[in-house]
Amino acid sequence: MEKKIIILAIESSCDDTSAAIIIDGQVQSNIIAGQMIHEQYGGVVPELASRDHEKNIIPVIKAALDQAEVEVHQLSAIAFTAGPGLIGSLLVGVTFAKGLALTLSIPLIQVNHLHAHIMAHFIDHPAPSFPFLCLLISGGHTQIVKSIAPMQFEVLGETKDDAAGEAFDKSAKLLGLPYPGGPFIDKLAKEGNPLKYKFPIPNAPGLDYSFSGFKTSVLYFLQKEQLKNQKFVEENLADICASIQFTITEIIFRKFEQAVIDSGIKELCISGGVAANSSIRKKFNELAAAHQANAYIPKFEYCTDNAAMIAITAHYQFLTNDFTSQEAIPFARA
Ligand code: KG4
Ligand code: ZN
Repeated sequence: MEKKIIILAIESSCDDTSAAIIIDGQVQSNIIAGQMIHEQYGGVVPELASRDHEKNIIPVIKAALDQAEVEVHQLSAIAFTAGPGLIGSLLVGVTFAKGLALTLSIPLIQVNHLHAHIMAHFIDHPAPSFPFLCLLISGGHTQIVKSIAPMQFEVLGETKDDAAGEAFDKSAKLLGLPYPGGPFIDKLAKEGNPLKYKFPIPNAPGLDYSFSGFKTSVLYFLQKEQLKNQKFVEENLADICASIQFTITEIIFRKFEQAVIDSGIKELCISGGVAANSSIRKKFNELAAAHQANAYIPKFEYCTDNAAMIAITAHYQFLTNDFTSQEAIPFARA
């Protein structure tokens, strides 16, 4: 009988410590420890994130092994997120993975976090067929990616400044909402009128994005309205949230729709934490229907940062012997 491929995957690129076990391409466990500490600062504090990863990494890995009923000596390889992400956070996962792989004398697999967000579509079935287009929208990244074969990615467009998630989170901060603000805007927007306030749609070249001007326009708009009425935000919160969400959704899909038209591709995917947004999901499904395309959205827990997506990517890399050495170093930027 063929030996099973059993991989332990570790994700520690930002503020979630996660570990997953995958056996022959089937995810057996996916444990995620979030970090509440950043809420009070209105954003992720890198130094505090690294310290929490140090605290969480052993219990999280132990829980992933236990839930999958796997012993360390059964592992075929250890996978880790190499980047992009916060260097201090990445170092915790990378260093742990190296130490364990050395002790067990098994190979190491270094995974690109952005590739993993896209490969999250291969955890459950049906998976998209090739070629597909993926709209990757997270707290740190915004990209339109074309994939013509497993692990082959071509970035067609990306943000030149803030990510889509940052547009949500920074707007939410201006409204006095907790961090991360994306889910709060989503919830409040449900009661509001998306056409009440108008914000400009930035004009980035080609299929690239820009969100920094949008954030500034929200700031100036709020300052102007609050000069007239101090209680403006309080009294109009739902309409403001709905209008912000509407504009971000418009910005995202104008470019994505252009990519769909230009490429003629009929397999469409959406990934990353912002793909949890209800207006974005709705618009994504509508766009796919309008272009007679198939729409794929991963389960919520595979949209936000998780180790299952690292594990599925590592499984494909294992199949092509795409291993790394003990010299591997994490990287902050894509
Ligand atoms: O993919 P993710 O967990 O982390 C990164 O790799 O960045 O994405 C986190 C981002 C945050 O900006 C958060 O506000 C956003 O996803 N997010 C949402 C929603 N749920 C999470 N944004 C808008 N609406 C949501 N429902
Ligand atoms: Zn991510």
